[in-house]
Amino acid sequence: MTATTTMMALRAHARGGPEQLVYESAPVPGPGPGEALVAVHAAAITFAELTWDLTWTTKDGRDRTPVIPSHEVSGTVAGLGPGAGGLAAGDEVYGLIEFDRDGAAAQYVTLPAAHLAARPRSVSHVEAATLPLAALTAWQALTDYAALEPGERVLVQGGAGGVGSYAVQLAAVLGGTVTATGRAGDRDFVRGLGARDYLTAGTDDYRAAAPQGFDVVIDTVGGAVLDASYELTRRDGRLVTLSAPPSAERAAALGVHAMFFVVTPDAAALTRLAALVDEGRLRPVVSQAFPLREGRQAFESATTPHPPGKTVLTVR
Ligand SMILES: NC(=O)c1ccc[n+]([C@@H]2O[C@H](COP(=O)([O-])OP(=O)(O)OC[C@H]3O[C@@H](n4cnc5c(N)ncnc54)[C@H](OP(=O)(O)O)[C@@H]3O)[C@@H](O)[C@H]2O)c1
Repeated sequence: MTATTTMMALRAHARGGPEQLVYESAPVPGPGPGEALVAVHAAAITFAELTWDLTWTTKDGRDRTPVIPSHEVSGTVAGLGPGAGGLAAGDEVYGLIEFDRDGAAAQYVTLPAAHLAARPRSVSHVEAATLPLAALTAWQALTDYAALEPGERVLVQGGAGGVGSYAVQLAAVLGGTVTATGRAGDRDFVRGLGARDYLTAGTDDYRAAAPQGFDVVIDTVGGAVLDASYELTRRDGRLVTLSAPPSAERAAALGVHAMFFVVTPDAAALTRLAALVDEGRLRPVVSQAFPLREGRQAFESATTPHPPGKTVLTVR
């Protein structure tokens, strides 16, 4: 267990956007029963996380500011709480931190030991940190919700994004024939991830690409893109939305199975994803890396052009 009682962290003391984030000293959290204390090497951010209610409250709605963002971590086990099994100090691990607790934009974070898995060893901590939220979301969307079958046609809306770049790769790994959408400049990159076809947002006629509709549509964009996604899904096909719940009425009118879910920790799936990385079948996609003290700029970069993939905070 670390003897240090304070650490540097990125925190917000009031609900808001990146302007609320300050780099400051904070108490090192103590691992509770069943929890591990992880020395953070790298933590990835999700641009939208400051808009999620659970970033700011407990599950029953109580304010929990000051909060620490960033819910995917790669690091080293630094201590274990009572009854935390299966891990030892020094183990290199990665994991998804639930949204109603402090995240990993800090030198240390605690989370249930059962939510951690051995990190992929063929890549850096920075690359590993891009997986536990984004790749797990893509995995659960394709397997647990869409139940993708080999040979099915999959459309990934937003194929260059944090989740989208993994949805493209994992849909291909699972045997799907993948079409992705996104900005014109990301075409070659996304095709390199395994998309057979790429449709440019605002230019291409998506409907012409699949007149009968796609078997599975994963929408990571929302808004007008989600509105258009119902008709791109074939009758009896599956539409998985990630930014907001779908319209049950529109889905029913078109005979589409539309669903929304929130990713949940799953160490067994993370072990599977780590194996795919170490086998060279899943490539971590790092958009940009910022030192922890520049965490506010990392969140602000959402609104300026940036390379595809996940934005990461480097901690040690
Ligand atoms: N339900 C869950 O469990 C869960 C988990 C993770 C994330 N999410 C949600 O999923 C969404 C995506 O998250 P993310 O981290 O992947 O975000 P992201 O990295 O910002 O990815 C979104 C991607 O969509 C692209 N895009 C924007 N407009 C588009 C359009 N009209 N057509 C096609 N592509 C377009 C973006 O391009 P530019 O960057 O060039 O704009 C970006 O590449 C967010 O709403 C997030 O809250 C949900």
